[in-house]
Amino acid sequence: MSAAADTIVFALPGNETLAAALAENHGAEIGALVMRRFPDGETYLRFDSPVRGHRVILACSLHHPDDKALPLLFAAATARELGAAEIGLAAPYLGYMRQDKRFQDGEAVTSALFAKLLSPHIDWLVTVDPHLHRWNSLDQIYSVPSTVIPAAPLLAAWIKANVDAPVLIGPDAESEQWVSAVAGIAGAPHVVLEKIRRSDHDVSVSVPDPATLRGRTPVLVDDIISTGRTMLAAVQHVMAQGLQAPVCVGVHAVFSGDAHDALLAAGASRVVTTDTIPHSSNGISVQQAMAKAVAALT
Ligand code: R5P
Repeated sequence: MSAAADTIVFALPGNETLAAALAENHGAEIGALVMRRFPDGETYLRFDSPVRGHRVILACSLHHPDDKALPLLFAAATARELGAAEIGLAAPYLGYMRQDKRFQDGEAVTSALFAKLLSPHIDWLVTVDPHLHRWNSLDQIYSVPSTVIPAAPLLAAWIKANVDAPVLIGPDAESEQWVSAVAGIAGAPHVVLEKIRRSDHDVSVSVPDPATLRGRTPVLVDDIISTGRTMLAAVQHVMAQGLQAPVCVGVHAVFSGDAHDALLAAGASRVVTTDTIPHSSNGISVQQAMAKAVAALT
């Protein structure tokens, strides 16, 4: 099987724009997938386009993964039962990557468990900058081939086009890998702060050396903005130093609770994210890069 016509792209709810970009790049068809909830909250799902003998691509970003994982597993397993020749998953945000260690006795290492649940149902996976911290690669937990699209070139291009004299700031050691890559491509200096996280919402960071930041626009860069407390602590430090109002740039706009408003209220001049997760802050699109990566695999 090789012709684009053999490929059908299905959008799980909320992923229609991504599915359209994947299909267009591929010259592929968009399939009809009917999904609704029964009154008791269970999922009803039906393929209204034939999948037998076709390559099926499921577009499904996995933020709030507990709501999305079961419908996705049902869709993948049903496509397999109905005779799909191949099933690929295009998930710009791959959830359940952060619990990568048993920090306390008895904890579930959900990154590995989630990968174990998903892997048998798909043949390949394309995603954008998964949160690889203690895992070196998705291959350590996913048993299917994966392609990881780096967001760094896209972030760097946006920063170059939109920020005068930027200095990039990573709010914690884990952000070093993203910040240094973005800074390298953007040709800008960077510093990384030290973070202490006491709980989900209680985060502080070290004071950067203000001298390295003066006269430049601080750009805080992180892979995930979730509670926003990591970014918020960095914004507050930058403001306390009397530096220019920072620009916050994130790859994945998880934004739980008041995270987005809190960053603006603390003094951020702008908050910009990629569209791996739909959010009003999306200003950098990964969809063409996703489409190219998927096309290269098929
Ligand atoms: C750290 O592990 C990540 O790189 C992010 O800094 C972190 O996930 C952000 O989380 P939050 O927005 O909840 O502080």
